[in-house]
Amino acid sequence: MFSRIKSPQQLIAESGADLEGHSLKRAMGLFQLVCFGVGAIVGTGIFVGLADSVAEAGPAVVVSFVLAAITCVFTAFSFAELGGAIPVSGSSYSFAYASLGERAAFLVGWCLLLEYGVSVSAVAVGWSQYLDELLHSLTGLRLPDALAAGPAEGGVVNLPAVVVILMTATLLVRGVRESARATAAMAVLKIGILIVFCAIGFSAFQAGHLSPFATEGMGGITAGASVAFFSYIGFDAITTAGEEVKNPRRNIPLAILICIGLVTVLYCAVALAAIGALGAGEVADKPAALSLVVDQVTGSSVGGGVIAFGAVVAIASVVLAVMYGQTRILMAMSRDGLMPRVFERVSPKTATPVANTWIVAAVFAVPAAFAPLDVVVDLTTIGTLAIMAVVNLAVMVLRRREPGLGRSFKVPLYPASPLLGIGFCLYLIWGTGWRTWLVFACFLVVGAVLYGVYGRRRSRLADAVTPGRDGAARGAEGG
Ligand code: ALA
Repeated sequence: MFSRIKSPQQLIAESGADLEGHSLKRAMGLFQLVCFGVGAIVGTGIFVGLADSVAEAGPAVVVSFVLAAITCVFTAFSFAELGGAIPVSGSSYSFAYASLGERAAFLVGWCLLLEYGVSVSAVAVGWSQYLDELLHSLTGLRLPDALAAGPAEGGVVNLPAVVVILMTATLLVRGVRESARATAAMAVLKIGILIVFCAIGFSAFQAGHLSPFATEGMGGITAGASVAFFSYIGFDAITTAGEEVKNPRRNIPLAILICIGLVTVLYCAVALAAIGALGAGEVADKPAALSLVVDQVTGSSVGGGVIAFGAVVAIASVVLAVMYGQTRILMAMSRDGLMPRVFERVSPKTATPVANTWIVAAVFAVPAAFAPLDVVVDLTTIGTLAIMAVVNLAVMVLRRREPGLGRSFKVPLYPASPLLGIGFCLYLIWGTGWRTWLVFACFLVVGAVLYGVYGRRRSRLADAVTPGRDGAARGAEGG
């Protein structure tokens, strides 16, 4: 049933060297880790996606956020168990390699192109809305429609979304990463802005705006939960920092759970504040909705401008984090022989994967320029949910295969927790709708074919079993 498996011990041994070939310093403590998590999580999902979730669920969007959070909590337990047991940087890709084998790992890596790559496009489109809002509050002018959105949303090309992707790629190839201090500052800024928003929203709260409550029924709440789920994506990034964390077996599980708890409270408060202030109908499907709410409540565009400024900075940091993650995942897969070697090449001048970064930027700038936000959000969501279902499965497989593996954290109520995790992931996949299932199914078929014709033959794990098998082919490819 399983293809080639990389043992947890092998993964941990390999992690003695980082992607650039040096040992990573274990420097991150719990606080930095929580900031890192908040930095990766809070972005377009709440600043922009809230309006789409409200359109699906009405005032009951709070229930949608809670359902999305419950899905994340069960899955977070599984990430926490695996992250504590196999503290290496590959996250779900490595977990799948250690439990379900290479084919599943390849498909998880393939789906990570949705969770990270397409997410870059989605987050960039959200950024573009707030840039327009910021320009408007500073100058009174707006970007021309043709340049502010793709064809499906009444424009021609979403230029700001492309620009933020290209700017981010430029920073990444120069080796710019957020320092620990900048990461902490960004997390505080995001939480601060959302708290200010809540304070303003609640000052105009009218209980009548919440009733009737479940206007769109259970179907609307489910669809709303699938959209709301996007705003939680990123908590698993904490496990990608496995090799740089002090006492990872304790700090990784704890940081994941603290992050989900914190953002769930914040998101529910933001949703209640927005709907309580204006009513669901005024928030649904509105661009840059948080600025709109503040403008309406305060009767001036200054407050909305401040929120827009915060959102522009905050969302840009998500673009940086997510694009960085995508380049490193491709690098890890390339090092395993599952992706072309161009992705692992590091420029001697900048010590960064230059070609890899530009390929990622060029490919994902295309959906950012032309695709509607809901399409890229849905694809990111379904890809991430599929990965999370696999991670829950991996916990169960690894418990059987490696019962003696050191586990600092064990999922509670085993096996109910990972089973519920899988159940909730499938429930939210259901909520994304048949068009998204169809595109995703095609995407998976392409991935499976690519594994068969490329990954399986070029895998270095295969070389380890049968040395030299594909050496000639790879030698010819060059490096
Ligand atoms: N959770 C991230 C965001 O909302 C992807 O931008």
